[in-house]
Amino acid sequence: MNRSEAQKRIRQLQEAIEHHNHRYYVMSEPEISDFEYDLLMSELDTLEKKYPDLQEENSPTRRIGSDLNREFTQIEHIYPMLSLSNTYSEDEIRDFDQRVRKIIEDDFEYTAELKYDGVAIGLTYEEGRLIRAVTRGDGVRGDVVTDNVRTIKSIPLKLHGSNYPAVFEIRGEIFMSHEGFRQLNETRKEAGDDIFANPRNATSGTLKMQKSSLVAKRPLNCFLYHMLGEDLPYNTHLENLTEARKWGFKVPEYISKFSNLEELFSFIRYWDDERKNLPFDIDGIVIKVNRYEQQEELGFTAKSPRWAISYKFKAEQAITRFLSVDFQVGRTGSITPVANLEPIQLAGTIVKRASLHNADQIKLLDIRIDDRVYVEKGGEIIPKITGVDLDARPEGSSSLVYIDSCPECGTRLVRKDGEANHYCPNEYGCPPQIKGKIEHFISRRAMDIGAAEATVDLMFREGLIGDAGDLYSLTWEEVEGLERFAEKSASNLINSIQESVEIPFERVLYALGIRYVGETVARKLARHFHSLERIKSATFEELVAAEEVGKKIAESVMLFFKDPNNRKLIEKLESAGLQFQSAHSTPQGTKLDGLTIVISGSFETHSREELKKMIEENGGKNAGSISARTDYLLGGEGIGPSKMQKVQELGIPLISEEEFLRMLE
Ligand code: IVH
Repeated sequence: MNRSEAQKRIRQLQEAIEHHNHRYYVMSEPEISDFEYDLLMSELDTLEKKYPDLQEENSPTRRIGSDLNREFTQIEHIYPMLSLSNTYSEDEIRDFDQRVRKIIEDDFEYTAELKYDGVAIGLTYEEGRLIRAVTRGDGVRGDVVTDNVRTIKSIPLKLHGSNYPAVFEIRGEIFMSHEGFRQLNETRKEAGDDIFANPRNATSGTLKMQKSSLVAKRPLNCFLYHMLGEDLPYNTHLENLTEARKWGFKVPEYISKFSNLEELFSFIRYWDDERKNLPFDIDGIVIKVNRYEQQEELGFTAKSPRWAISYKFKAEQAITRFLSVDFQVGRTGSITPVANLEPIQLAGTIVKRASLHNADQIKLLDIRIDDRVYVEKGGEIIPKITGVDLDARPEGSSSLVYIDSCPECGTRLVRKDGEANHYCPNEYGCPPQIKGKIEHFISRRAMDIGAAEATVDLMFREGLIGDAGDLYSLTWEEVEGLERFAEKSASNLINSIQESVEIPFERVLYALGIRYVGETVARKLARHFHSLERIKSATFEELVAAEEVGKKIAESVMLFFKDPNNRKLIEKLESAGLQFQSAHSTPQGTKLDGLTIVISGSFETHSREELKKMIEENGGKNAGSISARTDYLLGGEGIGPSKMQKVQELGIPLISEEEFLRMLE
């Protein structure tokens, strides 16, 4: 391929990839498989590497981010990024409407849309290309976060169509969906990292990360809601936004026009109730005057436009009486104080209990028995106590005393430096901790043994099981003799236990419940070491050499196998015939089916031996030398020059370790 052919092909690939990004990230209707998509990307990348001067700023390959570590620069906004004044009642909206009517004499319309709870962003486009993304900052100046924003796949880097203005800015909100947030926190928890409090914190933390390659791995998304510029195609807010959708922007559908306040109020009431069913957070409704000339007539105050206002939903709150406190012991021994409340209706459910979090929170609230307390339901499922009505406090009350020994087993509690929670250290003798471990062991994603929590509790109380290993020596008679157990349910349970011996090694490893070894880490450990024996005898250095295993996880794994209780458990499981080794013979994936890959150079996170194993496990073939039959060269640091020349001659795509790993995802 000569240079001008390459240029043509690069353009074709860029267009195709952006088209598929739009199908996938904006419309949620992909037309091709992830693998086909990866192939397009890697072809583009290979060509751009071959002709670096043909790589454009906005090439889709740039969306994977760079590893440069740098501070953000700041820039003055062309149009200040103002905030909106908030209202909390229909009366306040009526007042706003009156103020608008005083200034505008003609008829006018409002638009109402959702107020997304994320991080505001201003995107500038020139000639249809994204050139800058700036955060709100102090409203006058913001941080330039273009590289990070480029990794957000729902933001178009190049616009579709042709009727967009030569220069304009579009503003919106970057956010994370509930599901994206949940998955991110789960991965962080598994890795032993701190978890984010809510999707908004996770979003703003992500956007400020220094490495855009890490931002690229986070599930960020962006809704657009405001256009600014000299030559916008229409004179109204709604028409321009609708048009922007055609240029490739993710403009949400939750927007309506109103000329009547009562209808506007029903839109607000509808969403106040319906917001609980949305897959992302909103905290109110934004009301705007639709026509630009009328917006101009109304103008701005120092802080906010006079043509728009936000209505904030109330955090759902109730007041009730605090009756008593229970201290619950979790699976890991952590203690959670839980308040018992006089039952009260809150956001559609009856609330009887609320979390008090920990000793510090109790101290902070200075909550006392019989106090009248405020209960709120925020984004979280478990309601929390946010305050105490001190005026209603009965006389002679005294502060709550935090327990110093475990309510379940009497062991003295410990509180580690820097941690908010107290712990019961009696890991193998404290009933809820023992039962919790067994429940984790049998859970669906672990050994998938069909027994309810009540059954585990019953078998434990009857002395039939003291750890998960005892499940495998249960007899049919023992189970059938249990309260409420009939012949059928007893054989179901026994069968389900017997079937579990076929569960693959990586899930057995997860089922053991080693601290910080969640599903992902268990999978990585299993693929790296292949057997429990090898994990058990691995040194610290060997453990941290496995992917995703850091210091904290390695220490926890070593500690687990040192403990005599765990050794005993493993002996029982081993003699029951559980899978303590990976099944080598069959490939575990088909992502590389039929592909021949040559490895050359050295790599950052895997040895060549490991990469070879991964190729084979995913159905591919690892060849030693390059030929016309080679599909990819997986290249690391210091690829030999003759190999390099050969792949170029044959037009074989060169992929990096990171790209290779992405193909397996
Ligand atoms: S319009 C000058 N529309 O709320 C008006 N803002 O307090 C420009 N926000 O900084 C903003 N959803 O971060 C607008 N549909 C929406 C919005 C929205 C969320 C945020 C935005 C803004 C803040 C204003």
